[in-house]
Amino acid sequence: MQENTNVLFTNAFEEDIYNGLTKYPKQLSSKYFYDANGDKLFQDIMKMPEYYLTDCEFSILEKYKEEISALFYKHEQAFSFIELGAGDGKKTKILLEYFSHKKIDFKYQPIDISQNALDLLEKSLNQELPNVTVEKLQGSYFDALNKAHIQNDVKKIILFLGSNIGNMLHHEAIDFLNSIGDYMHSEDLFLVGFDLKKNPQTILDAYNDPTGITAAFNKNILLRINTSLDANFNLDAFKHWETYNPETGTAKSYLVSTKDQEVTLKNLDLKIEFKAWETIHTEVSQKYDDQTVEHIAKSAGLEIVTQFSDEKTYYKNYIFRKQSSNI
Ligand code: TRP
Repeated sequence: MQENTNVLFTNAFEEDIYNGLTKYPKQLSSKYFYDANGDKLFQDIMKMPEYYLTDCEFSILEKYKEEISALFYKHEQAFSFIELGAGDGKKTKILLEYFSHKKIDFKYQPIDISQNALDLLEKSLNQELPNVTVEKLQGSYFDALNKAHIQNDVKKIILFLGSNIGNMLHHEAIDFLNSIGDYMHSEDLFLVGFDLKKNPQTILDAYNDPTGITAAFNKNILLRINTSLDANFNLDAFKHWETYNPETGTAKSYLVSTKDQEVTLKNLDLKIEFKAWETIHTEVSQKYDDQTVEHIAKSAGLEIVTQFSDEKTYYKNYIFRKQSSNI
């Protein structure tokens, strides 16, 4: 791609957008959904009756908080509670409140790509749980983990909720878990939320609500490009489309161009053509079964300590530790 050589990018966002839109088939990374508007829309999604994930995980944490805390605070050893992609912390607050109530000795380190989400979270925690020490870390997971790492030989409990792991394909999830394992010592634990395979209609409904919140959320990436790269995407000329393959468990979100059109991104000096019904792939939301979780954990050098499920078996939280080296 020769044109590429003439383009000077000032940040990773510009480069990713350029590369994603000049590729065939086109794609945009879902991590760019989350600006202030996207954070707000995602909170609206989490409140939708169709988006069962949040309620399921909430009910698991509520029901098993005592058991989970007992695992985390074994031998009453102080720990760093590091959350990857903390968002609004709604579910984490169940645990934070319980830890605080039980006078557990810990420090909360939320990591998020969105500074806006972190600022709001810190503010609400200062009000609701003033005894909890909060140390926010803005950045991508690994940049922020590097910062968190240098500071401590303290025990680490890492949290990755919301089936965010589902936003990776299996080989990416294995690499990711493996990299997290590199930060873990033998006594550290890693709690991960996995959305499970279920009636395919239930899954499609969760990602394609009738009120159009999900469509607005998916299209927010185009809005963000319009604003920050002086572009002219016509949001009405794209359709939100969701697919789910019950065999592989992969749900995919697309934006589909409803006509031939050209879009200009002035800041990148770029014109992009869309043929009618051409797609932009934006998100993967992988659904799991037990064998698959076992497989990816094992391939990543982790072992399962235990797992908790909601009543409908829609969702599971697994707790992993590093595979002991003497096997
Ligand atoms: N990470 C969330 C998920 O996969 C984000 C999400 C919810 C999403 N609804 C969406 C992404 C619709 C794209 C389209 O569940």
